[in-house]
Amino acid sequence: MITLNTDYLKGFVSANELEGIFPSVRLAHENLHKAKGSGAEFTGWLDLPSRIPDTFIKEISSLAKEVHKDSDCIVSIGIGGSYLGIRATLEFLGPHTGHSQLLGGGKLPVYYAGHNISSDYLHQLLSELRDKRITVVVISKSGTTTEPAIAFRVIKNFLESKYKGEELKKRVICVTDEKKGALRKIASKEGYRSFIIPDNVGGRYSVLTPVGLVPLALAGVDIQSLVDGARAAQKEYSVCDLDKNTCYRYAAIRNVLYAKGKKFEVLSSFYPNVFYVAEWFKQLFAESEGKEGRGIFPASMMMSTDLHSMGQWMQEAERTVFETFLQIDRPHHDVIIPQDQENLDGFNYIAGKSFDFVNKKAYEATAAAHFEGGVPNMTITLSKPDIMHLGHLYYFFEKACGISGYILGVNPFDQPGVEAYKKKMFALLGKR
Ligand code: PA5
Repeated sequence: MITLNTDYLKGFVSANELEGIFPSVRLAHENLHKAKGSGAEFTGWLDLPSRIPDTFIKEISSLAKEVHKDSDCIVSIGIGGSYLGIRATLEFLGPHTGHSQLLGGGKLPVYYAGHNISSDYLHQLLSELRDKRITVVVISKSGTTTEPAIAFRVIKNFLESKYKGEELKKRVICVTDEKKGALRKIASKEGYRSFIIPDNVGGRYSVLTPVGLVPLALAGVDIQSLVDGARAAQKEYSVCDLDKNTCYRYAAIRNVLYAKGKKFEVLSSFYPNVFYVAEWFKQLFAESEGKEGRGIFPASMMMSTDLHSMGQWMQEAERTVFETFLQIDRPHHDVIIPQDQENLDGFNYIAGKSFDFVNKKAYEATAAAHFEGGVPNMTITLSKPDIMHLGHLYYFFEKACGISGYILGVNPFDQPGVEAYKKKMFALLGKR
C-alpha cells in the first residue's frame, strides 16, 4: 500500500548508523506499546483503529443519511487537530473520486469556521450560508478553545435566526470531551446531539476518533474504508524491525539526519490534493517534537508550483534540510498532451505522453537534483489516492511521530508551548 524509497539517502545515512540508532527505536517501541513513556496517558491512538466498533461506524453512517436528507452543506467548526484531518481528507479525495456511495450518490460540501479569527472570512461565510440548509458540527476536545468557541457563538445566533425548536436542535452536533469543558455544558443544556472524544487521544492524533469520523461521514466519506486502511497500517507497523517496518525506518532515518544537522524536513508532493495532508503532517510533527529546544522543523512544498519559487532555496541554500516526497503511483485520471501541427511552442516532442508521465519525470528530476545539491531525500509512495490509502498514511505518520519523538527524547503527546500566546492574548482581551 505504502512504500518508502531511500535511494537518495546514499552517503547521508549508512546501514551502520541505522544499526546504531536501533536500540533507541526498540526502547521507543517498548515505551509506546507498554505505555511506559512520557505522555503515555495520551497513546490511545495506538490501537484505536482496531478498537473502533463497526456498530459505531454504522451509527454515524445512518446519522449521515438523516442529515443528508435535509441539509445542503455541513459547517465544521474547529481548529488544529479538530480541523486539519477533516480538511486534509476531503481535499485529498477531491470532488471527483466517487467516495460518496455511502449516501447513495450524494455528497455535502463542507465549510470551515473557527480555524481563524478573520472577520471578513466569517462575514463572507455567513453570507454564503444565508440561503442554505445547514448542519453544524462543532468540534473541540477541551471545549474552551477561543477560535471555535467565538465562531460557534456567531453561527449559533445565525442558526437561531433561521430555525426554531426541534429543527434548531437537530442542526447542531457537538464533538467534545465526555464531561469537561464549556462545549459539553452547552450540548447538555441545549440538548444537542453529541459525540465523545476519548480522553487518551490528543487533538493532532484524533482524526480517527469522532473528531474526524463524524464530519467526514456527514460529508459523505466512506469512513469504513478510512478505518480499514488505518487498521491495515496498525497491523503492518507493529513489528519492531527496521527492515520490515517502513514506518520505524522513516522515524529512525529522520533522527539520524537530525543528529547530523538536518534540522528541517520538507514534505514535498507533486499532487495538489495532498496540500492539506501536508498541513496535517506539519501540525502532527511540530506540536509533537518541537519542544525543549529540540525538534525537526516540518515544512511543505507543493510541486511543481514551488519549484518555481522555493526550488531555488532547496537546490542551493544552507544544507540543513532533508526532504520527504509524497508520491502517488496511480492517480485516478490521466490527460494526454495533444500533437500540434504547427508546434509553435516546441512541445511536440512529448505529444502523446500523459500529464502523469511528465509529472513523474519532474519528480524524478527533482529528487535527483536535490540529492546532488546536498539534500538527502526519501519517497513515500501511495499506490492509489483513495480513502483506504489515506487511512493507512494517517496511521503511518502518527506512529512514526510517536516513535520519532521518543527517539528524540521528548514527550510527543503534549504541547505546552501553545499556551504562551494564549496567556498573552487573554491578558490583552482583559480575561480575568
Ligand atoms: O493537538 C492538539 O491538541 C491541538 O492542536 C488541538 O487540536 C487544538 O488546539 C484544538 O483544541 P481543541 O480541540 O481542544 O479545541
